[in-house]
Amino acid sequence: MSRLIVVSNRVPLPAKNGAASAGGLAVALQSALAARGGLWLGWSGKICSDEPVGPLTMLKDGNIEYALTDLTDLDVEEYYQGFANRVLWPICHYRLDLAEYGRREMTGYFRVNQFFASRLLPLIQKDDVIWIHDYHLIPLAEELRRQGVKNRIGFFLHIPWPAPDVFLAMPVHDELLKSLTAYDVIGFQTRQDRENFAACLARQNIGERLGEEEFSAAGRTFIARPYPIGIETDEFAKLARQAGNTTLHKRMRQSLDGKDLIIGVDRLDYSKGITQRIDAFETFLTRHPDYQRKVTLLQITPKSRSEVPEYEAMQKTVAEQAGRVNGALGTVDWVPIRYVNRSLRRPALAGLYRMAKVALVTPLRDGMNLVAKEFVAAQDEDDPGVLLLSRFAGAAHELKDAMLVNPYDVEGTADVIARSLAMPREERQARWKSMMATVRENNVFTWCDTFLADLAGNEAPEGVAQPRLKRVSR
Ligand code: F6P
Repeated sequence: MSRLIVVSNRVPLPAKNGAASAGGLAVALQSALAARGGLWLGWSGKICSDEPVGPLTMLKDGNIEYALTDLTDLDVEEYYQGFANRVLWPICHYRLDLAEYGRREMTGYFRVNQFFASRLLPLIQKDDVIWIHDYHLIPLAEELRRQGVKNRIGFFLHIPWPAPDVFLAMPVHDELLKSLTAYDVIGFQTRQDRENFAACLARQNIGERLGEEEFSAAGRTFIARPYPIGIETDEFAKLARQAGNTTLHKRMRQSLDGKDLIIGVDRLDYSKGITQRIDAFETFLTRHPDYQRKVTLLQITPKSRSEVPEYEAMQKTVAEQAGRVNGALGTVDWVPIRYVNRSLRRPALAGLYRMAKVALVTPLRDGMNLVAKEFVAAQDEDDPGVLLLSRFAGAAHELKDAMLVNPYDVEGTADVIARSLAMPREERQARWKSMMATVRENNVFTWCDTFLADLAGNEAPEGVAQPRLKRVSR
């Protein structure tokens, strides 16, 4: 088996205190790589003020070898906080109003991609397969090809790919589209993302579509295909089953004092629809006063990207909003919303998911959303909770038996919260069973194996869904 090199901006080093890694990419890749082994290159998270940046830090943990690079102040400002998180992130999440395009940031983005290529080049061996992740590193393959790299290179986009009218509003759209054609395999979370990408290529007259998943451009062929990312389903279900005996679980039960738990878990990000969710919860409590003092919403929201102004502003908005609802509706012995700005360890989270009657997963736009899948995996099959899921999350393409909502429709969402809390056990079981079958089937290992089989140009391993594509001769 050839060696796998994974490249992503964020590399979650094994946490010494067992703290949870922020976000789906980190969790999914760690599970996938731990099973297969390989080299993982990315940003160390450290910022250095001197140039040139020092040598790579090499670490080993089990099967995974980490190669970590520092970045300069300017790199982080222009590439990470700038183009990646103030242009690509808002655009891919349909927030053109928040995109702050600047040539300086765009130049920094391409420069840092060149820098990543220069760090990776000396590590590449002839038969390695290279798997690059997410919107920070779109032009990396093009840079590597320019330096003569002939290895198979794949790319997986963890976030949505927007409709052409939105994507093409970004001034450097063609540079990004063309750079993607340097990959052999491009993975998206959903068919809709792939179709949006294909529509952008067609609109810009870049390359040619040869089949459903096959494309050619600049003398090369590549495939673009949906690979819905998953979780370690059985492992997570086990964590949830075992959580019942932990102190946290007991304390939580005690503090709920018989009230039903509703849970929301999201990074503090404007794409997650947290303010609309709190509005919906408030509307639900106001329209259904019988539920007051009988339910509690636990909103777990670790802060993220605090140096980016929109995120900093949001910290204030959400905290004030939760405080206002608690002030208006709370009583001396009942706080409607418990709002927590820290990440929890995975076993603790798994236990809370299992304890909850309802999960509110209501992003305004999301690539996949693994919280939805984790919530399903954590349930007790005899008495499962209800997943209330935004139709704008990638997960809604698979979890059709969730209670699907439009998160912009606050009153509609409030009504669905009431219906979810009142749902009879048989219906909850039927919905859960069908969703659990999907979460089991499309787990993180299927995701990884299917992508890597396509990248290697091989048949998928036994037990893994076969790619439906006809291969184009290269
Ligand atoms: O795909 C987006 C993503 O990488 C998620 O996997 C994760 O939730 C988040 O972004 C992490 O963002 P950052 O590395 O900026 O904290």
